Amino acid sequence: MRVSSVVAAIAVALSGANAQTQYTATNAASVEAARATARTLSPTSSVKGRTFDRFVNIFLENTDFDMAAADPANLQWIASQGITLTNYKAITHPSQPNYIASVGGQTHWVIWDLFSRISSSARTIVDLLDAKGVSWSEYEQDAPYSGFEGDYVNQVNGANDYVRKHSPLMSYDSVTSDLDRLAKLKNFTMFLNDLDDNKLPQWMFITPNMTNDGHDTSVTVAGAWARGFLEPLLSNSNFLSRTLVLLTFDETETYLSDNRVFSVLIGDAVPTSLHGTTNDTAFNHYSIMATVENNWDLGNLGEGDEDASVFF
Ligand SMILES: *[C@@H]1O[C@H](CO)[C@@H](O)[C@H](O)[C@H]1NC(C)=O
Ligand SMILES: *[C@@H]1O[C@H](CO)[C@@H](O)[C@H](O)[C@H]1NC(C)=O
Ligand SMILES: *[C@@H]1O[C@H](CO)[C@@H](O)[C@H](O)[C@H]1NC(C)=O
Repeated sequence: MRVSSVVAAIAVALSGANAQTQYTATNAASVEAARATARTLSPTSSVKGRTFDRFVNIFLENTDFDMAAADPANLQWIASQGITLTNYKAITHPSQPNYIASVGGQTHWVIWDLFSRISSSARTIVDLLDAKGVSWSEYEQDAPYSGFEGDYVNQVNGANDYVRKHSPLMSYDSVTSDLDRLAKLKNFTMFLNDLDDNKLPQWMFITPNMTNDGHDTSVTVAGAWARGFLEPLLSNSNFLSRTLVLLTFDETETYLSDNRVFSVLIGDAVPTSLHGTTNDTAFNHYSIMATVENNWDLGNLGEGDEDASVFF
């Protein structure tokens, strides 16, 4: 990484301490007020891809490969519907830099889960998607409104709920400083609206809340959420249109491991003949960008995405 971007990353990280109070409006009154005027956008497009026309990325949290693979009722069921990637590794620890890397091709020296901002000169996958007219959105469960930049707790019991660190594009100033982009960082209410209205985008990142992603619970809860969420979508024509879904985990729970995470490719873009199979090619979170870039001929950022293996 260039020295200038290291310096910028540190400067931004330090300024984050102040910015946090500015952005974290979690009291009910200020959230209500902001919600009433929040800008929200649901653009669509139909750019033909090489092997899929829609890409859906879901991250669950902090589970070693063997723990996830042993979840009989749900994660094994999901695996039976697609291809299990048995040699897929996360990039680092803790959570946040994995999310950041998955859309930006590098961690930008973010080494923690604390509030972070990455300089507006740093590009992401959405620069490449926008250049080719491929529509995109994030769907973050329990974010109180589109473009909300803080963390949000459950208003009844105070439990962790929506967290900024699990919203991959949110740390990039190149996204948040553009109001049209910010308006595409949405919640699950908007997912259901967009699904019902047949207005889902071609690229999306989906984050369940801190209960459902297993972070504050267990892989059993995460597996149950994932199946409950995905199973109906796998027969919904508003969701399926040569759709490729990658369900993965941000990182392993055990830091002293090889960071191999349970990952499955499902959706109608996966040929039925490959359902229930495994693939032991070496993949990592940079393969996500590489696959999307290859599919729509987007070029690349010249970062980790440049040499990563492509799913298919
Ligand atoms: C989700 O975001 C929309 C758009 O900003 C907002 O109207 C809605 O109230 C939010 N849903 C929840 C459950 O907070
Ligand atoms: C997460 O979402 C589920 C619904 O899917 C809800 O029951 C649960 O209370 C939410 N967790 C928190 C901490 O709000
Ligand atoms: C695994 O994936 C790689 C990369 O797409 C592909 O070249 C290979 O044929 C796949 N192997 C199997 C057994 O499907």
